[in-house]
Amino acid sequence: MLRFNLIVAVSENFGIGLKGDLPWRLKSELKYFSRTTKRTSDPNKRNVVIMGRKTYFGVPASKRPLPERLNIVLSTTLQPAELPSDVVLCPSLEEAMKHLEEETLRDQIENVWIVGGSGVYEEAMASSRCNRLYITKIQQNFECDTFFPSIPDCFREVPPDADTPVGVQEENGIKYEYKVLEKRE
Ligand SMILES: NC(=O)c1ccc[n+]([C@@H]2O[C@H](COP(=O)([O-])OP(=O)(O)OC[C@H]3O[C@@H](n4cnc5c(N)ncnc54)[C@H](OP(=O)(O)O)[C@@H]3O)[C@@H](O)[C@H]2O)c1
Repeated sequence: MLRFNLIVAVSENFGIGLKGDLPWRLKSELKYFSRTTKRTSDPNKRNVVIMGRKTYFGVPASKRPLPERLNIVLSTTLQPAELPSDVVLCPSLEEAMKHLEEETLRDQIENVWIVGGSGVYEEAMASSRCNRLYITKIQQNFECDTFFPSIPDCFREVPPDADTPVGVQEENGIKYEYKVLEKRE
């Protein structure tokens, strides 16, 4: 069974978004997101990012689809013609995973990343396919209209990957820390 990880930046009041955008500007954090979701050990493979319709269209037009990764957008209302031809449209998370498990694609991909938003995160964390949660904990409250769901009890903190900056980071006066949680079987 193909598994996935989830990656999110969340404020102290559990916020993740405001008016279709991120509530904060953290350049280094965005670079961490990019590096983490692009990284493969096999140079012949690439990773997948799966996101809801609003998250996809929340990415600035010049920066989407997210480069060097296969972008999958979940939607029950979009038509394929509304997305670039290299973006895959799927009507559910499970359909997306089944698509990736097809023989022709399976050998070309290494890691699958769930990148939001709220409902997709909730479904992902409840799934047996979910392995790790890469959570940037922003140590500040922000005005938000979209929130991260509560984390099921089965996740435990594990040491982050070797290239992850350790300890409290600070940018624009905003403090944050990179955490990794893993599902305990
Ligand atoms: N802080 C972070 O790390 C982070 C990460 C991601 C997003 N965000 C922020 O969060 C906000 C967007 O998140 P959101 O929760 O509002 O929306 P979203 O999950 O990105 O998009 C919601 C839409 O996606 C589709 N969808 C979601 N789950 C689906 C499923 N399982 N199957 C089929 N379609 C599905 C539906 O589209 P249809 O209505 O077309 O069916 C739904 O209306 C933005 O502000 C964004 O900037 C923050």
